[in-house]
Amino acid sequence: MRIIVLKGSPKGQVSVTMQYVAFIQKKYPETSFEIIDIAQQIKHIEKNEAVFDDIIRKVKAADAVLWAFPLYIFLVHGNYKRFIELVNERKAIPAFSGKPAAVLTTSIRFFDHTAHNYLRGICDDWDMKFYAGYSADMNDLFKEAERERLLQFVRGFFQAVQQDEAAAREYFPLTHNVEYVPVDEPTKVETLGRKVVILTDAAEEEGQASLNRMLTHLTAVFNGQAQVVHLRALTIKGGCLGCLRCGYDNTCSYDGKDDFINFYHNTLKTADVLIFAGAIRDRYLSSIWKTFFDRTFFNTHIPSFAGKQIGFLISGPLRQLPNLRQIFTAYTEWQQANLVGIVTDEEAGDPGKVDRLLTQLAGRSIEYASSHYIKPPTFLGLGGHKIFRDEIWGNIRFPFIADHRYYKNHGIYDFPQKDYSVRLRNLLMSILVKLPFCAQRNL
Ligand SMILES: Cc1cc2nc3c(=O)[nH]c(=O)nc-3n(C[C@H](O)[C@H](O)[C@H](O)COP(=O)(O)O)c2cc1C
Repeated sequence: MRIIVLKGSPKGQVSVTMQYVAFIQKKYPETSFEIIDIAQQIKHIEKNEAVFDDIIRKVKAADAVLWAFPLYIFLVHGNYKRFIELVNERKAIPAFSGKPAAVLTTSIRFFDHTAHNYLRGICDDWDMKFYAGYSADMNDLFKEAERERLLQFVRGFFQAVQQDEAAAREYFPLTHNVEYVPVDEPTKVETLGRKVVILTDAAEEEGQASLNRMLTHLTAVFNGQAQVVHLRALTIKGGCLGCLRCGYDNTCSYDGKDDFINFYHNTLKTADVLIFAGAIRDRYLSSIWKTFFDRTFFNTHIPSFAGKQIGFLISGPLRQLPNLRQIFTAYTEWQQANLVGIVTDEEAGDPGKVDRLLTQLAGRSIEYASSHYIKPPTFLGLGGHKIFRDEIWGNIRFPFIADHRYYKNHGIYDFPQKDYSVRLRNLLMSILVKLPFCAQRNL
């Protein structure tokens, strides 16, 4: 059996995910595994068509594909995302169609499910025979029970390949055939001294007209007082290297080498309102956007956008992508920011409605920024917070020293055992319920 492993870590041999693959390889010496470095080699793959074609040839000849990658900000690394785009752009999907596939990730299991959902969607779009996903904690390999569990998964996958098992489809193909065209003159919204930054990857290329029109309209609503920044105009030398240089003191390996860090500190962190504008590309935004989010990781697990108003301007079928909507919501909530709203061009069938929604987005963002309104987090923000809190306190305090310092100083270590009044109340109540009088009356 020939398995192609598509490696999604930007790291080389030290990749945690690849230790899991190496373990599987050791247990299945009779199986041929070919590991193809995607995330680390993306520039080479993109520039040299022969290299890309060779990968596609190997996929075609393989019996199955194993997508093996680390979680990167709710999804895959930006470079891995770029590979998925290249397969689409270069019409190489037929090499994947009908091929059995499985997903293996390592992470701290913070929104691992959104990355799994994303890749499952891609496999469905490409008509692959998806077996299952396996989300390993990055320390699982040290535990015997977890190693056995991983091997059970691999056994099942290999059996599915050998027996040509049928695979269920989870997602419908996406469709989007409306375009926004403004109807009304922009209704002006004063920014009242609030700093508004609109960040976009919009380009003049085909398929971006709708996004560009929404962008132009919103900018006009803000009466020219919003700063529009094009991600493509910034010098961003490359994707996150995963080197964790930032862990100690939030300095990035790219410091001084490109525009990103200064731009983040001077333009984004000083804004009151951030609007992220992009078009859906496969089942996420573009890989340019993904690289942006990956590179923000130099802030590690510190909510560097806390207190800001965040809105999204999206062109594409967001209604068909609840996974992506969840990513936007969760991202905003864990940042302790406020999700003002998401406006998409899906409403364009109703003339004038997008215009009104854009005006409302602008108006609310200024109103909330003025009153410092942050809505309470849902499970997404709260659950995410607890995972980070526990991990920084425990497993990943090293190398994330800066996070530990920040969490300690900002009261983020809000473990329930520190709440002495609740502990006292619980103690009293547990004594009380044991008294016959109270127990009889269900007190
Ligand atoms: C930039 C960056 C972003 C990450 N984002 C997530 C995330 O969203 N969720 C998560 O659970 N882990 C996240 N992680 C942790 C990695 O997924 C985890 O450490 C993984 O095991 C690294 O695998 P690798 O060594 O193969 O690259 C992130 C790590 C980095 C460096």
